[in-house]
Amino acid sequence: MAGPADPVVTGAHCEVCGTIVVVDRGLVFGCPNASPEDRRHVVRFDSDVVPFRPIDDENPFLAYRRWLAVDAFGAAVGLDDGERARVIADLDAAVERVAGTGFRRTPMLRADRLSESLGFSESGGVWVKDETHNVAGSHKARHLFTELVHLVMAERAGLAPWSSPAGRAPLAVASCGNAAVAASTLAAAVDWPIAVHVPVAADATVLGMLERLGADVRVCERRASDPSGDPCVLRFREVVRDGAVPFGVQGPENMWCLDGGRTIGWEMTDQIAAQGPMLDRIFIQVGGGAFAACVGASLRASGVHPRLHAVQAAGCAPLARAWDRARATGGAHGAGKRWRECMWPWDSTPVSLADGILDDETYDWIGVVEAMAETGGSPVVAPEDVIVGAHRLAHELTDIDVSPTGSAGLAGLIAMREEVGHDECVAVVFSGVRR
Ligand SMILES: Cc1ncc(COP(=O)(O)O)c(C=O)c1O
Ligand SMILES: [Zn+2]
Repeated sequence: MAGPADPVVTGAHCEVCGTIVVVDRGLVFGCPNASPEDRRHVVRFDSDVVPFRPIDDENPFLAYRRWLAVDAFGAAVGLDDGERARVIADLDAAVERVAGTGFRRTPMLRADRLSESLGFSESGGVWVKDETHNVAGSHKARHLFTELVHLVMAERAGLAPWSSPAGRAPLAVASCGNAAVAASTLAAAVDWPIAVHVPVAADATVLGMLERLGADVRVCERRASDPSGDPCVLRFREVVRDGAVPFGVQGPENMWCLDGGRTIGWEMTDQIAAQGPMLDRIFIQVGGGAFAACVGASLRASGVHPRLHAVQAAGCAPLARAWDRARATGGAHGAGKRWRECMWPWDSTPVSLADGILDDETYDWIGVVEAMAETGGSPVVAPEDVIVGAHRLAHELTDIDVSPTGSAGLAGLIAMREEVGHDECVAVVFSGVRR
């Protein structure tokens, strides 16, 4: 049983094959049974149940440090409490120098005009978590920060295979959006080389940002010999197989992304509690699924139970299909063992204005399906006109300069508005500033 300041995470296990995954060795990124040919393994952190009493600190990684798996990792490899806090604070200061901001609690407020326009009563409404001011303009940096903390703690404990920063293996990511910008920002903060795998149609603004951050940008065309799936992900897996450090936001590639992503859910829990109401539902836009999986896991750790709704666009909805398949093949709980029956890449070319959630496969689907089942939630597939309308509404009725991807959670709420009571308190996350 954990003492009052001890780390809460006790270990981890694979949700697919059940294997215990050790969190006291450096540079372990996932289930030992995963291989370059079989990426269908994903880890869940196990925790002691302790009263949820975060420290009062504006930096979420310090406020919730005790609940983070990297804190348990640091303790297990011999770093004392002060050293563990210092790693986080020092990295945060380095990030602030590059990004102009470090990790600070982001605002969460009732959007009054939006709530009224959607027909909510005074006692209900829509609360918007404004993540557009987080490091690198989206929540993605939260997932990546714990990956970085893990690497730096492993180095401090002498567990990295290189003896000095000059010998570090490069980082690698597959993304052309918020994850790429966030990964390149954190890499620049610690001067760590990074290879970013982007599609042929990558946005010029994002490419310019990546170049300025010093990333090694690699454009990935589909090759005739490629199996199905995103060619950027295929190239990313190849460089990881050859020794690069996975530094993206997909749990099967680096389980430490499933750690820091939970801070946004903990923050939301605290912020709503401070304002009075109980949240009835949370709508999270889903691409690869790490974000919604983390919000789901955060609710479990903090003991609150709003319904989780995972939102996808009609032009790419493999998670909703997986939910149906899971329920048809034995139930939503424990569906990880039925990966092949439930989750496979979307059959047609993914398309939506919300282009940041067009991952053709929901890599972290298991955590999302589990959390929806546990909370009585469900997936929502938003028609394209609702995705477009939600983005317009977000700009008309709030002051947040959110991207269409970032307002897609709101599209989910609008799509199922008739099933939501007027007095319900509902949260969405506007993440991803318009570029
Ligand atoms: C703003 C924004 N929201 C949500 C998502 C979806 O996150 P995930 O891929 O973890 O499901 C993304 C992913 O790119 C994003 O950029
Ligand atoms: Zn496994």
